Amino acid sequence: SALTDLIYSGSNAVAGLTEGAVNDAIAKYGEDKKVSFGDTAYFLPTIYAATGVKVSRLGDLPACVGVLKSLITNKEELGDALNAGLATAVGAEILEALKYVDNENPYAEDSGIGFVPDPVIRSLGVPLVTGDIPGVAVVLGKADNGADVAKIVKDYQNKGIMTFLVGDVIEQCAEAGVKIGLDYRLVPLGHDVTSVIHVVTVAIRAALIFGNIKPGDLPGLLAYTKERVPAFVNTFGALDAVTVSAGAGAIALGFPVVADIDLGDMQVPGALESVLNHEETVKKSLELRNIKIKVTEIPIPVAFSSTYEGEIIRRGDMQVEFDGSRVDCFELVCTKEASEIEDHEFKLIGPDFDQMEVGSKQQIAYIVNVAGKNMQSDFEPVFERKFHSYLNCIEGVMHTGQRDMIRIRISKATFEAGFRAKDLAEVLYCNIMNEFDAVVDKCSVTIITDGVECTRLRHELAIPTYDRRDERLESLTDESVPVYYSCIMCQAFSPSHVCVVTPERLGLCGAVSWLDAKATNQLDPEGPCQVITKERVIDERLGRYEDVDEAVAKFSQGALEHVTLYSIMEDPMTSCGCFECICGIEPFSNGVIIANREYAGMTPLGMTFPDLASMTGGGVQTPGFMGHGKHFISSKKFMKAEGGIERIVWMPKDLKDQVSERLNKTAKELYGIDNFCDMVGDETIATDPETLLAFLTEKGHPALGMDPMM
Ligand code: SF4
Ligand code: NI
Ligand code: NI
Repeated sequence: SALTDLIYSGSNAVAGLTEGAVNDAIAKYGEDKKVSFGDTAYFLPTIYAATGVKVSRLGDLPACVGVLKSLITNKEELGDALNAGLATAVGAEILEALKYVDNENPYAEDSGIGFVPDPVIRSLGVPLVTGDIPGVAVVLGKADNGADVAKIVKDYQNKGIMTFLVGDVIEQCAEAGVKIGLDYRLVPLGHDVTSVIHVVTVAIRAALIFGNIKPGDLPGLLAYTKERVPAFVNTFGALDAVTVSAGAGAIALGFPVVADIDLGDMQVPGALESVLNHEETVKKSLELRNIKIKVTEIPIPVAFSSTYEGEIIRRGDMQVEFDGSRVDCFELVCTKEASEIEDHEFKLIGPDFDQMEVGSKQQIAYIVNVAGKNMQSDFEPVFERKFHSYLNCIEGVMHTGQRDMIRIRISKATFEAGFRAKDLAEVLYCNIMNEFDAVVDKCSVTIITDGVECTRLRHELAIPTYDRRDERLESLTDESVPVYYSCIMCQAFSPSHVCVVTPERLGLCGAVSWLDAKATNQLDPEGPCQVITKERVIDERLGRYEDVDEAVAKFSQGALEHVTLYSIMEDPMTSCGCFECICGIEPFSNGVIIANREYAGMTPLGMTFPDLASMTGGGVQTPGFMGHGKHFISSKKFMKAEGGIERIVWMPKDLKDQVSERLNKTAKELYGIDNFCDMVGDETIATDPETLLAFLTEKGHPALGMDPMM
């Protein structure tokens, strides 16, 4: 058929190109020259996932070219032609990898970013499972009318969809003023059509990271991407044979392609479809992938979408700033009796934003009063922590911090669009009512911008409330509560992963505390968080319970039988892939090192975060390695079975700074050690085991005197 002819012509062209480029590179650099994309533990991910081959040098590539060619059968069947599409993907991956030979940043001159590092993919885990990112769009080519593609991309952005751009659509979006960057969920990959492989490897690495797909299991890989990665492709402008064969590769992975030219009888319903009217592109694309958008329609003058969550507002663009580190500011949820609240009431005490000097620093406090039959004061901090995300989702509003240490910036553009205090209140009201309707019946919002009132209420109302909550949190230990909770939110991507969430061990993503899990269970009793009883203890030291084992076996559909809460060596908890940190054994010191996702450097284990992270994940147990949340580091239950936090010998400086106060406090309480963090190495001290050991010896680190872990 015309379609298969076109696919084969593209695949054959790419095969020829790839073979030539590989031969040239070997002639130039020799077979032993290293080839790597950089920040990844998955080699050339497409080749690795599909065949299990770990390409590391140019000499590994000719065999891959052989595999590539074997995928091109030139047979009429569509299934065969789709395999040829995979061959194109392999070819594109090799051609792109060759750009990285002898050049760490081949994309320096392109407006795209090229290869996407592993940590970025891990950071997408939680938003993908919660539906916060409902889908992934690949927008490719050059539109006849740039404004049309910009409008489509902006629409995806407002729906929270993660979009990757390939080709001149990058400039078309930029020219139309669409905000571009990972922070805006709009990632330009590059201009060569081969750069589309960089989004393909995102999907493929998701299967390896979260899905525990074994390298070489091609059918498993294709089933995973088809069923679990909600991606689709939109092409703009004329299609050449290479693009069509790349599109066949996308279809083989389960990603439908919507083209804006008339493909006539080359169309394949559900997989390759023409949509000539750009007004229909988004709707059709979402339908093909069955993507449902959570709509929070909020009547405010600017956009509200999770896409804007990471937006930064610079000093020069800011209309007004509220800065809790310099003046009294706070945010607070208060539980009231139903009779005390008039639903949807808004009160403003003090001037509105238009009465504030441009660029000035002001005071603000907002109190969200809630009432409901099933409301518990334990949920107050759970709601309150959401404010950060609610306010950040407003286009042109930036929020950092929490409680009475908040900072908020409102951009000039957003102010000029008419955004005022009542709109901020509306965002809080609508989101609380939308997300927590199972427990909140009535809600009202008071915003205070009057300086004297802010100061008075902070001291008289807010601080005493926070203190009371902190006391409650302190008293919440694994021993003091009657039950734990499971979380299986990540099963969308890691089918057998279960987190057991306890007061002293939050979910490894860092986003689900015991109180969060309790609230989630209350809000949706059939949902992802279920009660786990803890009545039948088997081993206190390891944190082994019959109840926990049963729950884990049930929620993992039998994939897991035993899990301990406090050991990294014996049946440790599984990891899905979106952990904030990973710790691993450091054999020379009897200790463990910890690396956080943001850390880009080397660790004393000779592995980077991506390398370490690849040791665990996909819902399997890996003794000696464990993913965990940042907060867990200062917990008295952190690998308690192996001796606890005394085992920590190294972590990146940034992470150490973040956790030092709490970690020092725990070390003092547990072992009477002062300033424990001063004994813990970091990258400014050592990135190799010998230097680290010398440092630990000098400091008299307690791990050195402990029993070997293995
Ligand atoms: Fe995923 Fe565990 Fe976090 Fe739940 S607690 S969202 S399962 S990492
Ligand atoms: Ni004060
Ligand atoms: Ni996860």
